[in-house]
Amino acid sequence: MKTRITELLGIEHPIIQGGMHFVGFAELAAAVSNAGGLGIITGLTQKTPDDLAREIARCRTLTNKPFGVNLTFLPVVEAPDYPGYVKAIVEGGVRIVETAGNNPAKWMPILKEHGITVIHKCTTVRHALKAESVGVDALSIDGFECGGHPGEDDIPNMILLPRAADELKVPFVASGGMADARSLVAALALGADGINMGTRFIATKEAPVHDNVKQAILAATELDTRLVMRPLRNTERVLTNAAVERLLATERTLGANISFADIAKEVSGVYPRVMLDGDMDAGAWSCGMVAGLIHDIPTVQELIDRIMQEAKRLIAGRLANLAA
Ligand SMILES: Cc1cc2nc3c(=O)[nH]c(=O)nc-3n(C[C@H](O)[C@H](O)[C@H](O)COP(=O)(O)O)c2cc1C
Repeated sequence: MKTRITELLGIEHPIIQGGMHFVGFAELAAAVSNAGGLGIITGLTQKTPDDLAREIARCRTLTNKPFGVNLTFLPVVEAPDYPGYVKAIVEGGVRIVETAGNNPAKWMPILKEHGITVIHKCTTVRHALKAESVGVDALSIDGFECGGHPGEDDIPNMILLPRAADELKVPFVASGGMADARSLVAALALGADGINMGTRFIATKEAPVHDNVKQAILAATELDTRLVMRPLRNTERVLTNAAVERLLATERTLGANISFADIAKEVSGVYPRVMLDGDMDAGAWSCGMVAGLIHDIPTVQELIDRIMQEAKRLIAGRLANLAA
């Protein structure tokens, strides 16, 4: 299937694996790229720019297909060494970067100077237009359903994607709530050029996370995510657990007087404990509503092949029959 996204990125299938903290290691990125999609290493999961350089080199030993690196701009006072991470990306010969979290304008000159294709992930049409105006090559439009940070506007993809299609000139993929062939075909129908998946890729054989995480996603339904940190305007969609319910109780009690310090113990340093140690109640970790559509742990190749084969059947069968 050729779309503007497969052409832009030089990949076989219009399927991207979004950056995921403590999930997006070389093993997963390479598996997705080897299966014909675009795998993405999560930059900030690597403690230092040197660690990222080593992770990029490791990914090269696992695939000779294109892969990307995610750069998330965090709302923190003490910023990570972004210039160092960008240097590691450039010197590592990475051709594709997924930016997220904030306007990438500051980093566009250096990324473009090195011929890097930039996909910016955002949750509103106005942010997408802004990113387009500073020269990003593509967008990843993250609907309210998504795992991670859905923003503060709460527009689900059924509205957000056609709005994006009406406004944007550059190619874009649908992100948030994407799980299977139905998601892909619907996204294409709504005007997107492909899909970006997070949560679905965690429940795969190659995702280098503790089995408890995969089992938690299988056990979860679409009712089991919660929005935390909304009072701090840093909303995150997470899987509910004891720590999340405690966090929400604190938010209710403190109301507008809440500060990050009040909830830090439920959100700081949580990812390695959940993803690597399998301590499922360690704190709040991102998970999409799409968990309700995830019922197995296939290999990445099986997952992508299944999506592509069933998508073609859906288009040539059900939809063609309806049109006829
Ligand atoms: C566990 C987890 C960690 C994530 N970490 C990041 C991150 O560090 N940076 C980022 O840009 N997006 C992150 N995301 C968002 C994903 O890249 C993707 O946009 C989102 O998962 C799409 O929604 P879905 O989960 O419904 O597929 C994360 C998502 C999950 C589930």
